[in-house]
Amino acid sequence: MNHPRIIQGGMGAGVSDWRLAGAVSRQGAMGVVSGTALDTILARRLQQGDPGGYMRHGIDAFPDKAVASRVLDRYFRSEGTPDTHRFKPTPMGTLVETTGSEGTLSAELQELLVLANFVEIFLAKEGHSGVVGINYLEKIQLPNPASIYGAMLAGVDYVLMGAGIPLEIPGLLDRYARGESGSITLTVADVPREESIKLVFDPATVLASPPAVLKRPAFLAIVSSNVLAKTMVTRASGTVDGIIVEDHTAGGHNAPPRGTLVLSEEGEPLFGTKDEVDAARMSELNIPFWLAGSRSDAGAVEISRRTGAQGVQVGTLFAFCRESAFLPELKRRFLHLVEAGRMRIFTHPEASPTGYPIKIARLEGTVGDDEEFARRPRVCNVGLLRHIYRKGENVGEKNGTASVRLGYRCPAEPIEAYVRKGGAEAEALNARCLCNSLLAAVGLAMEYAGGYLEKPLLVPGEYLESLRELIRKVGLDYTAADVIRFLGVAETDPA
Ligand SMILES: Cc1cc2nc3c(=O)[nH]c(=O)nc-3n(C[C@H](O)[C@H](O)[C@H](O)COP(=O)(O)O)c2cc1C
Repeated sequence: MNHPRIIQGGMGAGVSDWRLAGAVSRQGAMGVVSGTALDTILARRLQQGDPGGYMRHGIDAFPDKAVASRVLDRYFRSEGTPDTHRFKPTPMGTLVETTGSEGTLSAELQELLVLANFVEIFLAKEGHSGVVGINYLEKIQLPNPASIYGAMLAGVDYVLMGAGIPLEIPGLLDRYARGESGSITLTVADVPREESIKLVFDPATVLASPPAVLKRPAFLAIVSSNVLAKTMVTRASGTVDGIIVEDHTAGGHNAPPRGTLVLSEEGEPLFGTKDEVDAARMSELNIPFWLAGSRSDAGAVEISRRTGAQGVQVGTLFAFCRESAFLPELKRRFLHLVEAGRMRIFTHPEASPTGYPIKIARLEGTVGDDEEFARRPRVCNVGLLRHIYRKGENVGEKNGTASVRLGYRCPAEPIEAYVRKGGAEAEALNARCLCNSLLAAVGLAMEYAGGYLEKPLLVPGEYLESLRELIRKVGLDYTAADVIRFLGVAETDPA
């Protein structure tokens, strides 16, 4: 299989949407849609009146008309405008238990996830023959099976997954490609993996007539070390088609440093030589690999290929281009500061409810600013980063099997609630609600009855020199095509 040399990294939530991914794919590189929170994103865009009609155009192409019309009835508001922010909540992912060892999501959430992922991939792929990928996070488990199926229904070419060790996903792709039902093992705090619960998604529960076969997308695992790359290649449940090795300078979440956590004077995790990736050893795995994190200088493709890599995955440069979904005002303010050499990105060890370090821009008016964060009333209403835990002992019997009661807690929810559910207060104090703040950064901020409007958060990579160079050459309003020209050749190898 010939793979592109440039991957535009998946950027959640909604930053790399269908528009950016499509623009990148048109240039012969791999455009990657962020698969995070697409259910909420679709529901909110529909409530904003779906300017341009793009969502309804994608929904029109969905094979099951009954599902499409139910979702439109629930969320579409013709009178909505981009200033609509009093959104109706979408269902939070919780398991509906079927037996003691298996569960599903509610029918309403499953169909919204399948449709939303279908729409985003359908739109990203429309009008060109380039390849399109979708990015999910292993840490955000509950929406993954239904989401992956929805993307496959629209013919997604690649599934990329990081933020954890996605060993079960390649096999899941195989099952859905054969038209079968599939499941993943949920991570439940304090419950050993062998005793954990499976989350099942069966296509026949959403579609009246699911296709008997679907294209199996290529699977790329995003990992932070040689060891994890090897684990993926040798232990995954199906074929891993490539590896993206991402270092700790990359945008978004980072893997924590290996060994004991030591903080710098400024309070950032210190990374050392143990955290460096050895590209020469990557070549020994005999699998295509891409380098990510600060691999975005002019000519980066050529430079990476000298190490044996297929190419690079780049995030930050694409995050601030014209086609990305970040609010134009945020892009402008950020780029002005970068141009002036006055932006420094902070690697926050505690801001993410996942427990992973996350990059934050300390920009005024965003929750990257500690004062703005302190003003935010804590609420958890999207819930993607909640940890699942066992709520007391097994209770009751269902279908002859003991059933486990599960609870859900997020370090960013009100602290008393988190602690009441058994969470540690120390994990909660600095935790930001990434669900709401990342959605706010793409124009989908929730507004509450009391008048509070959620504030955005920017999570760019720490390496800004290449961005500075790019805007010096092209200007502040640059396009995805400009980024690709800057990085070098985008095309695949000749067959
Ligand atoms: C705003 C932003 C959001 C990101 N979100 C995700 C994400 O949801 N999932 C993911 O795997 N990587 C995410 N990343 C990482 C990128 O996909 C990419 O690997 C990384 O940015 C590469 O490093 P660079 O920023 O130095 O180019 C994000 C990066 C940025 C800048």
